[in-house]
Amino acid sequence: MKLAVLNLKGGTGKTTSAVFLAAGLATDGPTLLIDADPQGSALSWSEAAGGFEFPVVALPVRDLHKRVPQLAGGYKHLVVDTPPGDAGIVRSALLAADLALLPIPPSLMDLDRLMPTLELLSEVEPMNPVRVLVLLTRVRRNTRSARAAREALAELGMPVMETEVPLKEVYASAFGLPVERLFEYEYAVRELLGVEVPR
Ligand SMILES: Nc1ncnc2c1ncn2[C@@H]1O[C@H](COP(=O)(O)OP(=O)(O)OP(=O)(O)O)[C@@H](O)[C@H]1O
Ligand SMILES: [Mg+2]
Repeated sequence: MKLAVLNLKGGTGKTTSAVFLAAGLATDGPTLLIDADPQGSALSWSEAAGGFEFPVVALPVRDLHKRVPQLAGGYKHLVVDTPPGDAGIVRSALLAADLALLPIPPSLMDLDRLMPTLELLSEVEPMNPVRVLVLLTRVRRNTRSARAAREALAELGMPVMETEVPLKEVYASAFGLPVERLFEYEYAVRELLGVEVPR
């Protein structure tokens, strides 16, 4: 699976999701995490953690799709963490992917700021028809926000994963630590592997 984790809005849970999902996919087969964010958060995380069980390479470039074929040989899964502000890099990650995963916290502000990401997805669609899935992240327990977000996303025609990632301290304090447990991301990975498009 070639997964691009994206959302042009900042701070939606892209890097957290990319790292946990790569850790989960790595239990299914050799996995490469490409850090396409010039801020380099995923790479810094892996360095601070003393390295992950899977390799992380920094490649914040706008021709990622041209470089991926050489890089991805031998890997079963590829995960690309993308930056919030650089549409050129995100476009290139989408051209390299077969699945676009959008982490979105179920807040009105995050939903309101989704349009530029949706526009980029429809721009890339004719060149590379990736499958798109929303992952609700930082979901507060006992609130209606996730259900309201699901309704709003359904109106936009956006498929939403059944798995939700709750707002939890284990995620808020995960940066820089080894990923030893996957928590909710274990279910997300199972769900993703179940929906993988056969090639
Ligand atoms: N499920 C969660 N529960 C609690 N905190 C979370 C959760 N997911 C992410 N966070 C925290 O929210 C912040 C933003 O997450 P993250 O860095 O993954 O987002 P991002 O989309 O990669 O941000 P950027 O756009 O800046 O790259 C971080 O401090 C992270 O630790
Ligand atoms: Mg990030």
